[in-house]
Amino acid sequence: MINAVAKTTLLAQLLQLMIVVLGQSPCPTSFWYNRDPETNETSGYVQILSPSKENPSRLNITLSHNVALSTYNVGIELVHTAEESIMALEQSMPIMFRLSFPSDLPIPMLTSILFNNEIICTGPPAVGPIVSTIVLVNELHLSGKGCKKKLTVISILPAISLNQPNNLDCGRGLPIAPVAGDSEVSPGQWPWVVAIFIVKREFVFQCTGTLVTNKHVISAAQCFYMDNMSLLVENFMVSVGRYDLRDWRQKGSVNSDVAEYRIHPDFSYTDISNDADLAVAILRDKVEYGPLIRPCCLWSWSADLNVLRGKYGTVVGWDLNELGEYNSKPKWITASIVSQEECLRSNGNYAALMSNRTFCAEHRKGSFTYKGENGSGLVIYEQETDRFYLRGVVSKTIAGAIPSDENEFTIFVDVARHLNWIYRQITQYCV
Ligand SMILES: *[C@@H]1O[C@H](CO)[C@@H](O)[C@H](O)[C@H]1NC(C)=O
Ligand SMILES: *[C@@H]1O[C@H](CO)[C@@H](O)[C@H](O)[C@H]1NC(C)=O
Ligand SMILES: *[C@@H]1O[C@H](CO)[C@@H](O)[C@H](O)[C@H]1NC(C)=O
Ligand SMILES: *[C@@H]1O[C@H](CO)[C@@H](O)[C@H](O)[C@H]1NC(C)=O
Ligand SMILES: *[C@@H]1O[C@H](CO)[C@@H](O)[C@H](O)[C@H]1NC(C)=O
Repeated sequence: MINAVAKTTLLAQLLQLMIVVLGQSPCPTSFWYNRDPETNETSGYVQILSPSKENPSRLNITLSHNVALSTYNVGIELVHTAEESIMALEQSMPIMFRLSFPSDLPIPMLTSILFNNEIICTGPPAVGPIVSTIVLVNELHLSGKGCKKKLTVISILPAISLNQPNNLDCGRGLPIAPVAGDSEVSPGQWPWVVAIFIVKREFVFQCTGTLVTNKHVISAAQCFYMDNMSLLVENFMVSVGRYDLRDWRQKGSVNSDVAEYRIHPDFSYTDISNDADLAVAILRDKVEYGPLIRPCCLWSWSADLNVLRGKYGTVVGWDLNELGEYNSKPKWITASIVSQEECLRSNGNYAALMSNRTFCAEHRKGSFTYKGENGSGLVIYEQETDRFYLRGVVSKTIAGAIPSDENEFTIFVDVARHLNWIYRQITQYCV
């Protein structure tokens, strides 16, 4: 027994000596980083020098990232054999864990380690325009007796909280009560709705987009293509705070060049079944918020579609009139989110357009054609925070879906399933 304990301690010390120091640890005896020179994979080692006894024991690790995240996969394992670890726990001898971090993200900062509510280590959080905090809770269950003792590490899904930029400003328009039965928009009612134009001999309206920071607009990827070709960034102009499409000098609106646009890597213009019809346009200059210009909050609730079923979202856009021209004033419509099954039941052809990264919403025919709405956001109001959150981007409809059908469905790219990608574009972090 003494041998095993000595071995555990020695191994811990050896491991610590051999490591390549990658990041600063706030408490080098309890936490350090290691990079495998062969795979470049980075891991973190946690050492609890004298673990207090409890069963189950609870290890609580808090990490901080200057990247915005919606999901985080981290592996945790015991460094030593189960027998050695059981003994270490029982004797309050050092116990060690290895954390494997996602390889496509920078390494996180460690901000705290708690073992059975005892503080083992604390460190400063990451700094940056966006900071994600990840709390990993792991339980160590000791079961069985004598030689049949077993130790199991159970990880509870990481809880992630986000300090989003402009958090205080997002998702709130002018408090204008919508008039029942009227789908006209009042100026300032949806201040994150932007118009995207293509610069030809004149400016041609191309798509609608959603402002999510003072520099970033989310729209559909197809809006940046024409005849199978992606267009040059110089071809675009984004009008923020715009109300009347024909009024180029509208007070309170800003016309901005686009510095860059990023198309989701899974998007394909020619493959109708692609489920990543998503783009982020970066404006050349930051816009100033005002009564007509405000960002929408990015989705920060559960990604589970079942929670949304039966909820209403709002879609705003300029839409086409009977003559096939864009209306000069925007309209808004409520679209009710339906289950994937319901969408398929209405028309089997939807199957080719759907995936678990899209969702379907239903709107009444006649009130809105959706023909000019490519790229429009579907925003959902959350009473809890009294704000609107961007959940979907208008991607596809089926041309000529059952004419007798009173209702029609639109396929939206599910923003909740693409948040990591979106955040990476916004934080300028490149993989
Ligand atoms: C690891 O990183 C180094 C330098 O950053 C690079 O040259 C090497 O190819 C990488 N190895 C692997 C397996 O990715
Ligand atoms: C884990 O630790 C963090 C930071 O100290 C704390 O906010 C959180 O409530 C803890 N969670 C659990 C389940 O103990
Ligand atoms: C676009 O590309 C697809 C496949 O490569 C082709 O079938 C289609 O005709 C092309 N469309 C145009 C407008 O060039
Ligand atoms: C979504 O579908 C893909 C392929 O069909 C599958 O690999 C993936 O695990 C699914 N993701 C979720 C969250 O269901
Ligand atoms: C908008 O989407 C429709 C299909 O839903 C497509 O026919 C049309 O070309 C798209 N318009 C733009 C500007 O991308």
